Amino acid sequence: MPTTSSDFRQFLDGVRPAVDHALESAMSPEILVGVPANLREPMAYALLGNGKRVRPALCLLAAEAHGLEAERAMPAALACEMIHAYSLIHDDLPCMDNDELRRGRPTVHVRYSEATAVLAGDALQTLAFQTLAGQSDLALVATQVQALAQAAGAAGMVGGQQLDMDAEGQSPDLAAVLKLHGAKTGALLSTSLYLGAIAAGANPRLWRDYAESVGRLFQITDDIIDATSTTAELGKTAGKDSSAGKATVVAVLGLDGARALAASEIQVALAALEKIAPARRYDELADLPRFLGTRST
Ligand code: IPE
Ligand code: IPE
Ligand code: MG
Ligand code: MG
Ligand code: MG
Repeated sequence: MPTTSSDFRQFLDGVRPAVDHALESAMSPEILVGVPANLREPMAYALLGNGKRVRPALCLLAAEAHGLEAERAMPAALACEMIHAYSLIHDDLPCMDNDELRRGRPTVHVRYSEATAVLAGDALQTLAFQTLAGQSDLALVATQVQALAQAAGAAGMVGGQQLDMDAEGQSPDLAAVLKLHGAKTGALLSTSLYLGAIAAGANPRLWRDYAESVGRLFQITDDIIDATSTTAELGKTAGKDSSAGKATVVAVLGLDGARALAASEIQVALAALEKIAPARRYDELADLPRFLGTRST
């Protein structure tokens, strides 16, 4: 499990084997009893692909910040990655972003079929809640299910995807783009921290300003790297946002403006961290905004 090293990259690398192992276990035929093989395979393809695992790491990091052993927050960490994997399958569909490459491989609808991609996404979404529900502390289950449903649902990620589509070809201002980002990406990232805090018995409200800032940083950089990284680096088609007329911070502010916004958001996150006063993992939490604001993949 986690190392005692001081930066977020090392934390991510430290927790990754345990997260990957737990994700693989969640996809084993013994666990997915009764699931048709033709559905289990695309679910596993999407979930076990080469993702960064940022959301599980955030969940485990918040839990550890409050002194909880990371393993105890693993069901919530897995649930966040399951929702994320489902959201990517659907985001890539021809009726949405119409992408053929994800995590360096053909997207699920290209590798399997469009109908199977819809169903594999549906199945990963319900599996996320089943994973939370399998915990023995029922009060914890209720609180985490409520928080994750809120973040993933119509007022969160799904609603954000609607705003993202509605804004295509439009010229929304920065406030509208940040609102859209907050829903489509920020809600799940923030909630990954909240679920870890909840697992540790802490009040997730304490995390709100920091978590929302971290969510903004994540998507500002997603927009920047779409415009600056290569398809090979990203493992997804670069330059798609501008060709699809997406409402991004780069479209509103230009590249330099987007980078300046990321730099100032890092300071906002650092100031917000002081309010949390974590018992542990301060250095990793202090490094996370820099990591998210300057990543190239
Ligand atoms: C990409 O998320 C999609 C968005 C939500 C913007 P990540 O950059 O975390 O993707 P993976 O999980 O590492 O592939
Ligand atoms: C995806 O946002 C957000 C969700 C999957 C909910 P993007 O469309 O910007 O993600 P990428 O760039 O395709 O990874
Ligand atoms: Mg999209
Ligand atoms: Mg997309
Ligand atoms: Mg993007």
